[in-house]
Amino acid sequence: MKLRRLLIVSLCITVVGFGSLLAFAGREKKNSADFRNQFVKDFKRTGLNTTVGDAMMLRILVESARCKRGVEVGSATGFGAVNMGIAFERTGGHLYTLEIDPKMVKACRENLEKVGLEKTVTCIEGDALKTLPGLKGQFDFVFIDAVKRDYMKYFKLIEPKLKPGAVIVGDNVIRSERAMKDFLDYIQTSPDYDTVIIRASMEKNDGMSISYKIK
Ligand SMILES: C[S@@+](CC[C@H](N)C(=O)[O-])C[C@H]1O[C@@H](n2cnc3c(N)ncnc32)[C@H](O)[C@@H]1O
Repeated sequence: MKLRRLLIVSLCITVVGFGSLLAFAGREKKNSADFRNQFVKDFKRTGLNTTVGDAMMLRILVESARCKRGVEVGSATGFGAVNMGIAFERTGGHLYTLEIDPKMVKACRENLEKVGLEKTVTCIEGDALKTLPGLKGQFDFVFIDAVKRDYMKYFKLIEPKLKPGAVIVGDNVIRSERAMKDFLDYIQTSPDYDTVIIRASMEKNDGMSISYKIK
């Protein structure tokens, strides 16, 4: 009887131990650079997603400025969020990505989970015009990529929370220049910001504004 109990306990310990080992191996795989690079390469991008070149530019900006708290306005399925998430994980930071469409939120969260970035990136569901005011604390990185005519509104909601030295990126600033004229005029003429328009990718024949908050 005693021997049987001992055998059952040993078996349970072995099963639990093996299960934990498998879970650990799975987590290790998701977090590996090779797995993530392949995931980014194979990502089924839609027309909404940012381009590969722009996503890498975002990643490099986060890494090089050692950003710690970022906001993305407009997640779609999370291509930008995965790329920036990789950088925020390296800096020990966190990214909040805001998305209005529940289907996109689900896809974004699933993609983040697939590469083990669910703790580094939080996808918040809702209209960014309503969720931005609820974000607590200060931020040092912003990527605006939702409704083009609303860029100034998003920016004005986050601007009081920006630290000096913050990096602000606006997407599609060449093809949608007219729709976001108020935002571009402001960010390019305000003495508080240095701004440049760049084209990191020829894929969509478009570009991004990159600004640095001086004070
Ligand atoms: C161009 S896509 C974003 C692409 C994404 N940044 C990427 O890197 O792949 C724009 C997204 O903004 C979302 N969106 C539109 N209006 C929004 C709003 N008011 N608040 C939050 N998200 C919004 C859309 O549903 C869409 O998924």
